[in-house]
Amino acid sequence: MAASDTSATTITITGAGGQIGYALLFRIAAGDMLGADRPVRLRLLEIPQGLRAAEGAALELQDCAFPLLRHIEITDDPLTAFEGCNIAMLVGARPRGPGMERADLLAANAGIFGPQGAAIGAAAAEDIRVVVVGNPANTNALLAADSAPDVPADRFTALTRLDHNRAVGQLTDALDAAPDDIDRLAIWGNHSATQFPDVSHAVVRGEPVIEALSARLGGLAAAEAWLDESFIPRVAKRGAEIIEVRGSSSVASAANAAIEHVRDEQAGTAWTSAAVVSTGEYGVPEGLVCSFPVRSEGSGYRVIEGLAISERSRARMDSSVAELVAERDAVRALGLG
Ligand code: NAD
Ligand code: LMR
Repeated sequence: MAASDTSATTITITGAGGQIGYALLFRIAAGDMLGADRPVRLRLLEIPQGLRAAEGAALELQDCAFPLLRHIEITDDPLTAFEGCNIAMLVGARPRGPGMERADLLAANAGIFGPQGAAIGAAAAEDIRVVVVGNPANTNALLAADSAPDVPADRFTALTRLDHNRAVGQLTDALDAAPDDIDRLAIWGNHSATQFPDVSHAVVRGEPVIEALSARLGGLAAAEAWLDESFIPRVAKRGAEIIEVRGSSSVASAANAAIEHVRDEQAGTAWTSAAVVSTGEYGVPEGLVCSFPVRSEGSGYRVIEGLAISERSRARMDSSVAELVAERDAVRALGLG
């Protein structure tokens, strides 16, 4: 692996010519992700058809004259893109096309995330950290991690911070609270409709969320019904709701979540959600990239262990983990991963 450049942090963004890329670049260059004291060098990786859009974004970045932005490089070569890279944000992915089955989507993306993982293994800096945004994010991260056996697996993560933030958004509405009032929410499982947004451990201004909901809605049964029938499906299917209302998938909220994921991983946080490579926590099979409640002390996300899990929660977690197992098995059946 190449040595890390200490003068500026090298950030590689794949799919940089796309929608989320455009929403990410300017905020990263402005210092929203790593802070006002860390200069950044940007590497934009695109496929040939996306290079012009990435070049256009680079022209605009230049026109912003951001004090922290040291250098921009645009390439369609993964090895060049990941050379000496400290932070990789893997956004570019193959979207589901008409008539495409899930297995076709997994295979198409394996053809992207396998080679990119290998290029990260060959060229990135020793301190590389990776977040996968492109869908299916968890299994794409698993493929990238499997293709970089010399990089510690805990450097690979997938984005479920958007789901976490969506859950906070729904609770603030229901409880007439501010986002900062809510703590200890958890997203378990896959970044898909099977995910489990879990309030069992959550508190609002220090009070258990379940008690606050019960008080507002007229009892525990009403609170549980709201969670099962409204909160959980609304959060889990929010991606589809955005697509239906907006006409295309989430962009600014996804970019914001990716920035917060990296920011909190680097700066430290006591509690958020991220998909990380399981080492068997909570019975999740080892090697799966699964969302858990996590913390960071600035050197990577660690699963928050020791939480009590009710039978109801266990069933929801198990069904999302079963989907991750099926995705892993599908790519393995294709000879990938
Ligand atoms: P987009 O189509 O606007 O942009 C994707 C870009 O990726 C395109 O410019 C394309 O040319 C590029 N690309 C494709 N293959 C590539 C490759 N092999 N290497 C480099 N670049 C490549 O899509 P978008 O709206 O920016 O969304 C990107 C991905 O993020 C999608 O898969 C979307 O489903 C996913 N997404 C994930 C979350 C999440 O929370 N995890 C949220 C929203 C969207
Ligand atoms: C999202 O959560 O907004 C994205 O992953 C898009 C999708 O397909 O749900």
